[in-house]
Amino acid sequence: MMIPIINNILERFFAKDDRLNNTQIFGYFVEEPLKDEHLTLGFSPSRIALKKRWRNNGLSADFIAEYLTTFFPRDTHEDSKTNTKSEIKSAVSYIANELLENAIKYCDANVEYPITLHLELQSNEVRIFINNSVTASGVEKFKSFIKELSDSNPDEFYLRQLEKNAEDENNDGSGLGFLTIVNDYCAKIGWKFQIVQHEPDLIAVTTMVQLTV
Ligand SMILES: Nc1ncnc2c1ncn2[C@@H]1O[C@H](COP(=O)(O)OP(=O)(O)O)[C@@H](O)[C@H]1O
Ligand SMILES: [Mg+2]
Repeated sequence: MMIPIINNILERFFAKDDRLNNTQIFGYFVEEPLKDEHLTLGFSPSRIALKKRWRNNGLSADFIAEYLTTFFPRDTHEDSKTNTKSEIKSAVSYIANELLENAIKYCDANVEYPITLHLELQSNEVRIFINNSVTASGVEKFKSFIKELSDSNPDEFYLRQLEKNAEDENNDGSGLGFLTIVNDYCAKIGWKFQIVQHEPDLIAVTTMVQLTV
């Protein structure tokens, strides 16, 4: 009985429905689920104050990181190329927290669509996927952000974001979340936009981050 349920949840991340041109991928995105360790958490988009949700995010991100590191036996540097358990934990916790914050900040508040986080581990690759709803205008903003990030040199992009932040104090965020994930953790990142339903339209986006540990 467990298998259909798991398949159903995983469909959110891995469903291939290109018949109607319903999906669009940007960046580095892996579409096959891994067979090894995985963990999926769902968050209902309830009306709890955002601040409170963010405190909970910290807990969820720490839990995900802690859970993952139980699969790594290394506690100390055996050679300088491998990451220690605590380095993996802090990277995963930081990235999961950034992704959860984004999903909560930018999801479409008018639809009942859960935020789902999925974590996979295979040999030395960790992949974190997060799936959330997004409004039509949010999609446009997001795609143009992705284009700008992909077309820019990281240093120039960083400076441009700092300037934008200085000009506009009402910004939702710094616009530096993805850049930090890619630059500070040498992670690969990608996005998949999906039209889940028409009339009423429901669009979902999955952000995937791959970390080599
Ligand atoms: N999960 C998401 N759903 C919808 N839009 C998103 C999501 N994550 C990011 N975005 C869009 O991408 C932009 C950049 O995200 P990020 O680099 O984390 O910066 P910040 O969160 O500080 O705005 C956001 O401003 C938002 O427009
Ligand atoms: Mg962010």
